[in-house]
Formats: sequence, structure tokens, C-alpha cells
Amino acid sequence: MANEPIVLFDNGYHKCLMFDSLVTGEGVQSNQFLVVDGKHEALIDPGGDLTYTPLAVAASKYMNIKEMDFVFASHQDPDIIGAIDRWIVHTRAKIVTSKLWARFLPHLVSSYVTNQLSGSVYDRIVSIPDAGANVRFGDSYLQCLPAHFMHSVGNLQFYDPVSKILFSGDLGAPWELRTTTCQCRISTNISLI
Ligand SMILES: [Fe+2]
Repeated sequence: MANEPIVLFDNGYHKCLMFDSLVTGEGVQSNQFLVVDGKHEALIDPGGDLTYTPLAVAASKYMNIKEMDFVFASHQDPDIIGAIDRWIVHTRAKIVTSKLWARFLPHLVSSYVTNQLSGSVYDRIVSIPDAGANVRFGDSYLQCLPAHFMHSVGNLQFYDPVSKILFSGDLGAPWELRTTTCQCRISTNISLI
């Protein structure tokens, strides 16, 4: 198994790494991303049990995963955030996701894990409003952009203004041919969390 990530961006302080070969067997192929800003780290769409161990091992080369700041989840699918319980119990990371899915994610966390936490699962979740938000990350921020109904209700995409990479996640939506016009607008006035 090749666990070495693809370096998408590296200016010596800020890094974006892509893991594209961690899924084996019958699981839906998916990519996982690690963003590093100095001593701060965030994972984007880390996946479920299938990828937890190889991703944790591979990412440990770049950080102490216990100190990770955030896990960003574009939506609620198992290949996106299925291992939320493991990330919650083995790191101090906050889970960033749409407010629509925030109230469902605790269903993925067993009472055994919940009992090990000093607070509730909700204390570890950052709920992003429908309009999106900029989440402070290291010396910069990661922008949570509303991409609702593009793949999932309450779907988010993440933009890193340092690397200028848009992490589009699972992009796909049913589209009717009779729909002839579409107005898409990204707000530049969303709040900073
Ligand atoms: Fe998905």
C-alpha cells in the first residue's frame, strides 16, 4: 500500500497533501487531504474505519495527530466522516460540518466513546450555517463554501486562500435539461468563526 501523499502545495510553512491510495477492497474510492499551517493541522474528508488507521499512520509523519485542530467534513457520508468517533477520541480536533448534519453526526459516536469525553459530542462540532463561514486556522483560515444540493443537502466545499485550492469534495448533482439558467454566487461577506 502506497501511503505517501501527493504534495499539492508547499511553501515551507503551509502545506496541502492529498492521500489517494488508502482505500482498498470494495470501498468507494476517495481522497483524503491534510492541510498544515505552521504547527496547525486539519484533515478534510478523512473517511471511515477503512481509512482511519492508514491515514492516521501516514499523517503522523507530518504532525502529532493528537494535537490536530480540525476535521472538515463536506457532508455526512461514511467515506467522508464515518470514523468521527475515532478522530474525536484520539485527537482534540473539532469537527467542522454543515449545521444540517451536525445534529446527526453524534449518531456515529458510541456511548463508550461519549463516556470518555469530558463534554458532549456537540462540544466538538463546529456547525457551519447555510451561508458558509471562514474558520480561523493557524495564521489563515479555511473558507467553508455552501455547495448545497451539489451531491448532498447541506454540502460544503472548502477553499484554502493560501494555496488557492478548492477542495470540492463529492461534486455531482441531478440536473434537469429544461433548467436553462443558473445563477451561482459566492458570498464574500461570510462570517469568521
Ligand atoms: Fe458522498
